Amino acid sequence: MSMKKAARFIAVLLALMLVAAACGDDSSSTTAAAGTDDTTPAGDADAVEVFSWWTGGGEAAGLDAMIAVFATTDPDIEFINSAVAGGAGTNARAVLASRLQANDPPDSWQGHAGQELIGTYVAADQIEPLNFLYDQEGWLDVMPETLIPLISKDGNIFSVPVNIHRANVLWANPTVLADAGLEIPTTLAEFFSAMETLKAGGMDAPLAMGEQWTALHLFETIMLASMGPSDWTGLWDGTVGWDSAAVTQGLEDFATALSYTNDDASALSWQDAGQLVLDGDSAFNIMGDWAEGFYRELGMEPNTDYVWAPVPGTAGNFQFLSDSFVLAKGAPHRDAAIAWLTVAGSNEGQDAFNPVKGSIPARNDADRSLYGEYLLSAMDDWASDTVVGSLTHGVVANDSWKSEIDSAVGLFLIDGDVATLQTALVAAQAASG
Ligand code: GAL
Repeated sequence: MSMKKAARFIAVLLALMLVAAACGDDSSSTTAAAGTDDTTPAGDADAVEVFSWWTGGGEAAGLDAMIAVFATTDPDIEFINSAVAGGAGTNARAVLASRLQANDPPDSWQGHAGQELIGTYVAADQIEPLNFLYDQEGWLDVMPETLIPLISKDGNIFSVPVNIHRANVLWANPTVLADAGLEIPTTLAEFFSAMETLKAGGMDAPLAMGEQWTALHLFETIMLASMGPSDWTGLWDGTVGWDSAAVTQGLEDFATALSYTNDDASALSWQDAGQLVLDGDSAFNIMGDWAEGFYRELGMEPNTDYVWAPVPGTAGNFQFLSDSFVLAKGAPHRDAAIAWLTVAGSNEGQDAFNPVKGSIPARNDADRSLYGEYLLSAMDDWASDTVVGSLTHGVVANDSWKSEIDSAVGLFLIDGDVATLQTALVAAQAASG
């Protein structure tokens, strides 16, 4: 076995151990798609290895739609799909970190615009600037101005955003609401009172939740609802203290929201939690709009099988994240990776990917006729709302800060002690913010 193969073998082994540890009882597993074993044709010009976590409901179909465009623009390049299962990339990012450490990068990988990109891959000098591609493709004219600083450092632009996702969406079962005589809640007080009504009517868990990252996702949307956009943003730029009364109130609201969730949350994927709403076992789920991709893939009808609204208390705010693809430094198939990135940034690629994925294109020249009701409303909101960043999906905090917050929230799910959580959040900011 060559040194490189040995390094890869050890990296994959370590990664699998990490994933096994991360999965616990969860039935989800690491799956690499065809062509991702040791036979990967390193250095072979007519292949490109692309790494993501889009294997699950709604997600793989979106990626496949963009791969289909790539197959028409670059029919001679084999697409090696190295997606690793697990929502929000929890497993995938552990595998990726091991590979990067072993100096065995995929040619291109999915990374979130914002601190995840800049604070991790750029800081570690693992990706190439792409200004040449932006110049060649005229992307500065079509990508949102708000996004470019989040993927840039010192004038260098480091990724190609494929979409904008919204984190602060409430998904609801309209039949359950109608049967209980409830409207979609618009404030946290209305939300909690609706869930009291549902509980009194015999529903155990009106708010469906999944594994831990979905609790962090709930945390960020409830904090936004409770604090408002300028305080939320202030937490990340240091102008609002984590020891403030506004944070205490936000954490209390988070605790209240959690009290309506299902006991088996830690064993469920985000799709499982979304399914609870479709099945009428829960009335609500708070999840990013990839849930729309999932619901559509299941053949559900918008406004009939599911309805949506901003998370109560967050109307007028768009808590966003953006998936983007990077070019690895030392990519084994650099030219093929650039061909892939060219499709990822193209109108055709984005208009194939996003209607299926449940996101709006990063580009501002989409063909609106391709998008359904929900996504059209998201496009309009993106254009007019106050835009704030997501924590769970890489915008506002670097990886170490996020991981300390995640650990604190994980403990809170067990002990439910608001004061302990707030102390841990203050410490996390002091250590890594
Ligand atoms: C996010 C990602 C989305 C979606 C979601 C659930 O982090 O940005 O595209 O994949 O995780 O897996």
